[in-house]
Amino acid sequence: MNTVLITGASAGIGYEFAKIFAENGWRLIIAARRPEKLEAAAQKLRSEYNAEVYDFPADLSKPDGPTQLYERIISEGLQMDALINNAGSGCYGKFVETDPKEFHRMISLNITGLTLLTRCILPDMIARGSGKILNVSSLGGFQPDPFGAVYGATKAYELMLTESLYGELIGTGVTVTALCPGPTKSEFAEISGKREAGFAADTRAVAKAGYRALMRGKLVEVPTCKYKMETAAMKLISIKLRARIVRMWQSRQK
Ligand SMILES: NC(=O)c1ccc[n+]([C@@H]2O[C@H](COP(=O)([O-])OP(=O)(O)OC[C@H]3O[C@@H](n4cnc5c(N)ncnc54)[C@H](OP(=O)(O)O)[C@@H]3O)[C@@H](O)[C@H]2O)c1
Repeated sequence: MNTVLITGASAGIGYEFAKIFAENGWRLIIAARRPEKLEAAAQKLRSEYNAEVYDFPADLSKPDGPTQLYERIISEGLQMDALINNAGSGCYGKFVETDPKEFHRMISLNITGLTLLTRCILPDMIARGSGKILNVSSLGGFQPDPFGAVYGATKAYELMLTESLYGELIGTGVTVTALCPGPTKSEFAEISGKREAGFAADTRAVAKAGYRALMRGKLVEVPTCKYKMETAAMKLISIKLRARIVRMWQSRQK
């Protein structure tokens, strides 16, 4: 039986990923900070999908978070065939008015946590000659993100890391994929301090597109037709105009 580690799997897109992997017969390792919420998600996955689920609480924004999670998994004798780097946090507002601690929190999770967890797991995959990694980036990774400047920059980092690792991993049997959703219905907008967009996509549609892209070893996936069209249109205009358009959208969501 194949095993997948999904971070941030107690809610939103990560929980949908867990359901889809369970439907496809995978053993699940799920991680997030709040143990009660994670345990509740694990119970639901066991009862509704008859899935084998390991739930390991972890704060991946802490310096030792990724290593401790990896060591816990290895101590249980588990090996990972796929890794979904989904846990992420956002923060919306003017750059100069945002508490620097918020920047630190986002960078520690979206950049450092994701990078260190991948660094722990990738050598085992390369040694076995197989493995699949998916990083949940964002449409914000492609374009300027006024009022979400640091969040967008962390997502651009994830996208660039994915593209660079793609080049490094050719011939190893390990694939790496970036999933770049636009606004999606979850707790994310509220936690990040903005209003959810009326046109936000469904978590199921986003996770399904990610699962398909991962299985095909696709490099970059923009889920849903609407966001594919938006990305294509944005590429046709100047960066200055993109920044103005996103500034207008983001202002409406405060
Ligand atoms: N929703 C959107 O509009 C949207 C759009 C583009 C990209 N994304 C990306 O999609 C990913 C998932 O977002 P979502 O919308 O599903 O968010 P969500 O509903 O807020 O879920 C976030 C998940 O991550 C966990 N988490 C948060 N901080 C963590 C930490 N420090 N360590 C470990 N786990 C942590 C949360 O559980 P705990 O709080 O218990 O830790 C939860 O399980 C993120 O990377 C986000 O940047 C979201």
